[in-house]
Amino acid sequence: MTLPDVTDTVSSLRDRVAAWRSAGLGIALVPTMGALHEGHLALARRAREVADRVVVSIFVNPKQFGPAEDFERYPRAEAQDRALLAGLADLVFAPSPARMYPPGFSTTVSVEGPSAGFEGDARPGHFDGMTTVVTKLFLQAAPDIAVFGEKDWQQLQVVRRLVRDLDLPLRILAHPVVRDEHGLALSSRNARLSADELALARRLNVVLAEARDELRRGRPVEEALAAGRRELAELGFGPLDYLALVDGDTIAPLRSLDGEAKARLLVAVRLGPVRLLDNLEVPGPGSGA
Ligand code: PAF
Repeated sequence: MTLPDVTDTVSSLRDRVAAWRSAGLGIALVPTMGALHEGHLALARRAREVADRVVVSIFVNPKQFGPAEDFERYPRAEAQDRALLAGLADLVFAPSPARMYPPGFSTTVSVEGPSAGFEGDARPGHFDGMTTVVTKLFLQAAPDIAVFGEKDWQQLQVVRRLVRDLDLPLRILAHPVVRDEHGLALSSRNARLSADELALARRLNVVLAEARDELRRGRPVEEALAAGRRELAELGFGPLDYLALVDGDTIAPLRSLDGEAKARLLVAVRLGPVRLLDNLEVPGPGSGA
């Protein structure tokens, strides 16, 4: 299968996109930080289904990592990523940090509302860095559609709000969380888990599903969440950043599960060298879902 072309300049990205557009072709962008796994490839496949041409960006964005986070150690695998994208992407856009943020770069795009709390608290500055680079990628690639995974649920809502607030002329398409055969949400950082940690990580989605079922049976929210938190600690997970029930659009915490709200459980917990993130929809008790 054909390997995608790779470019690291905005001008050549724009030339390619302009040529496609003048030929009447629709364009989808899949923003990534590389170290691609099956979750990313599912996004690229979805992009292929909905657009004529697919651009995958690969950029480990320094602005969305805190000073104590793993920017330097974040996995990088450019040649392998390109091979994995054969037949899925038409173009890989892989700019250097210096091209993305030339000297004197002074602009931050900041979204309030869904950025507050949870990842916003656990990783100060993370969402500003993410929305700044995503805005740049949208302006650089000018796609009709951008595909994001539901694994980073809060990020997805922040991006949706960004697009809505700024009237950015593209559609955000969400793809369900891609899980391994034990239900563990795929993540580039999972590669750092030891065999024992991996086995434990695979319990996280089970605890989430139990909390969801308890909520649907009518257990009070605080009780169901407290039981889930206790179970994570007993199983041997590291410090819990949060296990919460939120409105899936606004990310506002919910104290009860009323049938109207699009409720979601969000969790972030440490395990060995990684922070595991996951989320699950909680249909209202009367929804029959
Ligand atoms: O989800 C990610 O991998 C990143 O946050 C994104 C959207 C590529 C922006 O750097």
